[in-house]
Amino acid sequence: MIKVVAPMAGITDADFLNRVIPLGFDVATLGGYSLDAPTIEASKKIIARGRKEFDFPLNDIFSHIEREVASIKRVHSNVKVSANVRSTTPQPIIDVGNIPDLDIVEINCHCRQDEILSIGCGQEMLKRADLKKFISQVVDNVDCEVSVKIRANVDGVDTLAVACLIEDAGADYLHVDAMKKGVFDADYSLLKEICNNVHIQVIGNNSVNSEANIKKMIETGVNGFSIARGVISGNLDFNISNF
Ligand SMILES: Cc1cc2nc3c(=O)[nH]c(=O)nc-3n(C[C@H](O)[C@H](O)[C@H](O)COP(=O)(O)O)c2cc1C
Repeated sequence: MIKVVAPMAGITDADFLNRVIPLGFDVATLGGYSLDAPTIEASKKIIARGRKEFDFPLNDIFSHIEREVASIKRVHSNVKVSANVRSTTPQPIIDVGNIPDLDIVEINCHCRQDEILSIGCGQEMLKRADLKKFISQVVDNVDCEVSVKIRANVDGVDTLAVACLIEDAGADYLHVDAMKKGVFDADYSLLKEICNNVHIQVIGNNSVNSEANIKKMIETGVNGFSIARGVISGNLDFNISNF
């Protein structure tokens, strides 16, 4: 099982990840970062209304990520480092994907802040007619692996069809926040359906906060699972090393 620290903007920086990796994680995710002018402008608006989103100057973001990757690799050379990124065009994501020693660039098709949605980014990416081309362009132009993080059960989106499209685009990982409106647990049946229909590596996400939920997640057929809120304190109150 691949065990991933899921992105939490403003929290999952190198210092935080270096502290939690020894809990048993194989992949540590930095970010999410906003890379291009529209997503940086959107992030500034989000910060202005008091959300703990991170924003870095456009001209420093790439060297910032480079330094963060190096800080983790210095301490944990065996862990894969991923960077979760938002951009309205593929090129800035390609630039991040070519940062030395970065193992995975993760395309954020997940964020649901209004400011990000209004520029066609975050989960709105799932509705883009050119999503497959967007992802393929990243895949074809980076040396590292490519992950696509999606939110499940978005209104107007066929999650299974998107999962198949992401596989066809050549991504290495499909990272699924299997949330379902009104349900305080992951949508395990949807994850199972996805795993039965794709061969890409699926990382299941949402409500991994106990060994019982890890077992339910594994039973869906995922190749790995990721944890965000469960590790937000810097600790886990359950054990992941047995999985
Ligand atoms: C404070 C916070 C910030 C987050 N920031 C991001 C982000 O920048 N990019 C992203 O893809 N997901 C982000 N997420 C979503 C998590 O990665 C995860 O998908 C979600 O919290 C469900 O997983 P969980 O039940 O393990 O928390 C964030 C979640 C939290 C709680």
